[in-house]
Amino acid sequence: MTDTADFADRMLSLGLARVSEAAAIASAKLIGRGDEKAADQAAVNAMREQLNMLDIAGVVVIGEGERDEAPMLFIGEEVGTGNGPGVDIALDPLEGTTLTAKDMPNALTVIAMGPRGSMLHAPDVYMDKLAIGPGFRTGVVTLDMSPSERVSALAAAKGCSTNDITVCVLERPRHEEMIAEIRSTGAAIRLITDGDVAGVMHAAEPAQTGIDMYMGSGGAPEGVLAAAALKCMGGQIFGRLMFRNDDERGRAKKAGITNFDRVYTRDDMVTGDVIFAATGVTDGSLVPGIKREVSFVTAETILMRSKTGSVRRMIYRNPIS
Ligand code: FBP
Repeated sequence: MTDTADFADRMLSLGLARVSEAAAIASAKLIGRGDEKAADQAAVNAMREQLNMLDIAGVVVIGEGERDEAPMLFIGEEVGTGNGPGVDIALDPLEGTTLTAKDMPNALTVIAMGPRGSMLHAPDVYMDKLAIGPGFRTGVVTLDMSPSERVSALAAAKGCSTNDITVCVLERPRHEEMIAEIRSTGAAIRLITDGDVAGVMHAAEPAQTGIDMYMGSGGAPEGVLAAAALKCMGGQIFGRLMFRNDDERGRAKKAGITNFDRVYTRDDMVTGDVIFAATGVTDGSLVPGIKREVSFVTAETILMRSKTGSVRRMIYRNPIS
């Protein structure tokens, strides 16, 4: 059973939620402990253990890195029992390792699953990203526009003033000029210190989050995960890979990329139907974090399927052993 048609996403989705929950619960023990690596490792171990219980013949296409740099959940690693559909997996066991180590908001565990060949094999380089929520014509904003042009175009499409637009941006020195230009339009900026998968997802739910648009550069693997989320939630994301040296170009070639200037749309990055699960590690505006009471642990997962557009919020409570 390795056909695309056999991708039984309905059945697999609950299993995927379990995988995401387990990683979040494991890494939550490290919240605020100042140890990014330990928090990430706890998430990786738990995610891998749960993934290997699923009846899938899975291959990690977006993972913890290449085989020589990641002992577990490396790109190309086969996961699952092998008894089930052939699927591709994109994951970030802990999106926001620093957020977790410092007990700051919006750390998530993230995983997406789709039929073989459904997700871009993005190399571990930066990607220039631009995302907006659902309900706009395709290309109302583009990567080729300047930051201020994007704000004006989105404000015109929404029928509001540029002062009413809020843009989410990763706080990095490389974004200083862009931030100044956005501010010159009168738009507000929600600066985040990490976690651009959540940043992009925020732009898909402006009424809930107050964010209308995401822009700026971050990890390319996170770009594909964000595209998987938007495939389910609706909305547009554009990404262009950015290369700082030949080593990075080499990584892209190895991943099968030939056109280094290509602008990828959401549906270029994720070509088939996917399931997406994310569990809050620390409290966030999309999903609350792990709560520990005296004898229970509680986790909240957002579980989505692009085929139906269904979104489930699942609260899992389990006795602490
Ligand atoms: P981690 O999960 O490794 O902590 O990554 C967090 C993150 O903020 C991503 O969300 C983002 O894409 C990337 O790091 C940005 O990279 P940089 O910190 O180099 O600007």
